[in-house]
Amino acid sequence: MSLIRPRRLRNDLNIRNMVRETRISSKSLILPLFIKEGSSIKEPIASLEGHSYYSPDTVQEGIEQALACNIKTVLLFGIPKEKDDLGSGAYNENGVVQQAVRQIKAMYPSITVITDVCMCEYTSNGHCGIVENDRVVNDVSLPYIAKIALSHVKAGADMVAPSDMMDKRVKAIRKTLDDNGFYETPIMSYAVKYSSAFYGPFRDVAKSAPSFGDRKTYQMDYHNRREAIVEALLDIEEGADILMVKPAMSYLDIVRELRDNTQSPICAYSVSGEYAMIKSASQKGCLDEYAAMCESAAGVFRAGADMLISYYAKELSKAIEKGDIG
Ligand code: PBG
Repeated sequence: MSLIRPRRLRNDLNIRNMVRETRISSKSLILPLFIKEGSSIKEPIASLEGHSYYSPDTVQEGIEQALACNIKTVLLFGIPKEKDDLGSGAYNENGVVQQAVRQIKAMYPSITVITDVCMCEYTSNGHCGIVENDRVVNDVSLPYIAKIALSHVKAGADMVAPSDMMDKRVKAIRKTLDDNGFYETPIMSYAVKYSSAFYGPFRDVAKSAPSFGDRKTYQMDYHNRREAIVEALLDIEEGADILMVKPAMSYLDIVRELRDNTQSPICAYSVSGEYAMIKSASQKGCLDEYAAMCESAAGVFRAGADMLISYYAKELSKAIEKGDIG
């Protein structure tokens, strides 16, 4: 008969804290920020309650709030005024993200700025690459994606995060950055990005829903797990420094799969729909928002993630400081 009684290690909070298997630090949290082209903008985002749009000249407010919560890494998304077929706002040296990066790095050199590299916020059709005959054409899109990444890095971005899901884009970006002397700038690849209903609020935030069709020819089919490993290994081969799994909550098996099958750092992205689910369920009185936020974030780290991009990053950081998680 076993002598083990698991409840002995749950006797009091100190013991529970000591035997905790998952430690979470605010150093591992990344806060997304949405930057709108224009000036003096500070506008609450209806579909992401608690978040605001900033313009490049007001973004310091968002950074100050992050710093107040001990968050030192942000992920920038741009919302341009104009969109066109070639997404030219995305690689314009004076585009909204480029301006915001310059502003942040000038004022807060110690903040790590990651930029989302994609075309969907900038193309009039809302797709993540160049469209020809109603199809997103992979190899035609690559130079554009690489150009976007280069323009972000030239503006001062510390890391680029391609989210377009074109094949070979990591390779194209790596080569372009290296050829321009930016061989030290890391790539956080959205290696495993599923075609997901949980991006709903984001597409409203970024006005980036595709005008025709969907993203299923480039984002992954959520029935697939082996394919996630294929994607991850390809991206490592192409030069990705960090692998991302997105979304997080419905894909924790994938996080674990990558942890077991690669040696790369893994970032999970708890996407807009995950945030919205917890927010709205708690507003209806069905969930305790704080407890649900803590539990779902801990689950991501327990699954094997090293980093978490979360719309709750600031609140999570405070929860860590209070000792409620981590
Ligand atoms: C751009 C991009 C999306 C998200 C991050 N980068 C939207 C999409 O692929 O449709 C979603 C983030 C979120 O839902 O929080 N390609």
